[in-house]
Amino acid sequence: MAASGLTFAEKLLPDQPANANLFDGDQAALWQAMYRSIAQASGLASPMEELSLVVTDRFSQEEMGSNPVTLRFLQLLLRLTGARRVLEIGSFIGVSALYMAQALPEGGELVTIEKFDQFADLAEANFARNGLASRIRLLRGDAFEVLRQLDPAERFDAVFIDGNKERYCDYFKMLEPWVRPGGLMLVDDALFHGDVANPEPRTEKGRGVRAFLDFAATLTGWQRLLMPMANGLMILVKPQA
Ligand SMILES: C[S@@+](CC[C@H](N)C(=O)[O-])C[C@H]1O[C@@H](n2cnc3c(N)ncnc32)[C@H](O)[C@@H]1O
Repeated sequence: MAASGLTFAEKLLPDQPANANLFDGDQAALWQAMYRSIAQASGLASPMEELSLVVTDRFSQEEMGSNPVTLRFLQLLLRLTGARRVLEIGSFIGVSALYMAQALPEGGELVTIEKFDQFADLAEANFARNGLASRIRLLRGDAFEVLRQLDPAERFDAVFIDGNKERYCDYFKMLEPWVRPGGLMLVDDALFHGDVANPEPRTEKGRGVRAFLDFAATLTGWQRLLMPMANGLMILVKPQA
């Protein structure tokens, strides 16, 4: 600990007092103002503004979909690593698939798996409305069943795990052979609403994510970072062969 008593834990997030001590308003105003500054500087709009979307009234995009900052970050990761083939678990209405597909070069392909037809239908409609249907292949069904039918010779530059949290560990172990050496495994909601930080997570989903984090901590050779962004995005880089 420094002489000031300040710890790294207290200066991790931009809205913590050590990083935002010059802001004049309260915390709610700080969140809104910081988001406005980030969105403006980064040229970010909401997916509803940037895309032509048919949506579900069961969950809002804000509730179920990734944050625009995370979506841009995913695009950057794919562009910077020259990804051509990406696999996603959990399409919902197709927003993250659309953003990631936009980041792929000509001839690239994004494969996305969705368990529920009502969301898969909307996702497919959204791929077509946004001119990306030819670059996105949607597979319907439970990811574990669907993955069993995937060609073992397939290779992906990146895998984005955003399906049922209870089975994150199983997803990682099952999918790892399909990630090329040096490829990315990206795991969303890695902090699961703070539940992973409880001594015992309160929810089954939280326990699933926590089990994955504990497993990730034992991996050797994988470079990894749990990015404290939105609900947490875990980035794992597979070792080169
Ligand atoms: C958080 S949402 C995905 C959001 C989307 N990736 C985005 O950011 O726009 C999770 C999705 O995973 C789907 N899902 C849950 N369990 C699944 C499973 N076993 N196989 C495939 N999809 C699943 C859910 O139906 C839901 O649509």
